[in-house]
Amino acid sequence: MTLNRRELLQKGAQIALGIGMGSGLLAAGRTELIAAGTGSPADSKSFPARFLWGAATAAHQVEGNNINSDAWLLEHLPKSMYREPSGDACDHYHLYEQDINLLADLGLNAYRFSIEWARIEPEKGYFSRAELDHYRRMLDACHRRALTPLVTYSHFTLPRWFAFQGAWENPESSDLFARYCERSTKHLGDLIAYAATFNEPDLSSLFHWINLPDLPAGSDLASTMAAQKAGLRQALNAPEFSGFLIGDARKTPENIMAAHTKGKAAIKSVRSAIPVGLTLAIEDDQPAGPNSRFAEKQAEVYSPWFKLAKNDDFIGVQTYSRSRIADKTIPPPENAERTQMGYEFYPESLEHTIRLASKETGVPVIVTENGVATENDARRVEYIQRALAGVKRCLDQGIDVRGYIHWSLVDNFEWIFGFVPKFGLIAVDRETQKRTPKPSAAILGKIARNNSL
Ligand code: BGC
Repeated sequence: MTLNRRELLQKGAQIALGIGMGSGLLAAGRTELIAAGTGSPADSKSFPARFLWGAATAAHQVEGNNINSDAWLLEHLPKSMYREPSGDACDHYHLYEQDINLLADLGLNAYRFSIEWARIEPEKGYFSRAELDHYRRMLDACHRRALTPLVTYSHFTLPRWFAFQGAWENPESSDLFARYCERSTKHLGDLIAYAATFNEPDLSSLFHWINLPDLPAGSDLASTMAAQKAGLRQALNAPEFSGFLIGDARKTPENIMAAHTKGKAAIKSVRSAIPVGLTLAIEDDQPAGPNSRFAEKQAEVYSPWFKLAKNDDFIGVQTYSRSRIADKTIPPPENAERTQMGYEFYPESLEHTIRLASKETGVPVIVTENGVATENDARRVEYIQRALAGVKRCLDQGIDVRGYIHWSLVDNFEWIFGFVPKFGLIAVDRETQKRTPKPSAAILGKIARNNSL
């Protein structure tokens, strides 16, 4: 099934409820960030020693029963715009050990996952030791299998209480986030290899550049979402209610940037050795025609975050496709192959965005998400091979890329689109929760084992 922007529009307010666009060591401090080895000959197919090869998930998309999160609430509204609720999802909350073992058995050496704030602090100021212990067990499971764990502290979803207090529109939000970072790091920090405060905090700005075919001229995904918020507040009888993607763009970036800075300081106050950064949704923007607003988009969406990331230990690059910018974003070429998300199948986008992020930030790059939604796993194989050829070209030209983390480890809950899009290296039977690795998993695993294309 192909989902396109039209379907997205028809789902209306669901847009407001959280959508991943993709459009995702134990040393000391920035200087001690473990460097991938250098010296792979440019003409060989090998990658640097200690290159991170992994797969990613996000808590809400795989754990199941994340009942204290804002997303759970929105999924269960009478006129929810989510196609279906997350429910048990992949029951990763209970089956994490099996999933981590599968990932390691494939030959990968890194696992990126998120810890869920709504579980760790289900009521304001109440921290659950039992839930923190859960994430400690996950980290232990990674170390037992010699996997490098990369932990995201906030991957879209928020505790309900935080959403009811205005989420990132609330001036108190950055301090609340920093407190959560500190408490979590105190419990988990000795086992965390890399920390990302936020997943794709640039997404709400990116939405301004996504045009919907059926909207009046000048409308975009961001204005559509803003229009939904009033209805949501009414439905919930919650005048302050907000969320990651429906926040007021005049207030949220500033608060999220402050939250990143304070969160990073909180993490480092517990263990300065942890390399900290954030991950950005970066589309491979390409100017089209004489009046392209390409430069305007770059300045608006990415520049503020690149500037912030200059002070970080790494930048997480998350890329899925390209975007052609004329006076507005134009659709993919007529004959272009589309993925299940409606995007153009365009694996070369990754090479381009790695170059951009590296040039603009000057810090090491980790590809923290890259992948394709498709029922046809042979297309995933081609996508991976072409994307990795691009990563290799970057490395050969001296760009400091430390790892490639594929999105996603398992077929999972793709936000408003429910379980339809298939991003996984591993299929999941929704009835039995049985896992079945796809051929693409074996192919990526083999590349990882050989550390070579
Ligand atoms: C998000 C993921 C999402 C993926 C695919 C990324 O933007 O971080 O949560 O599932 O894209 O759409």
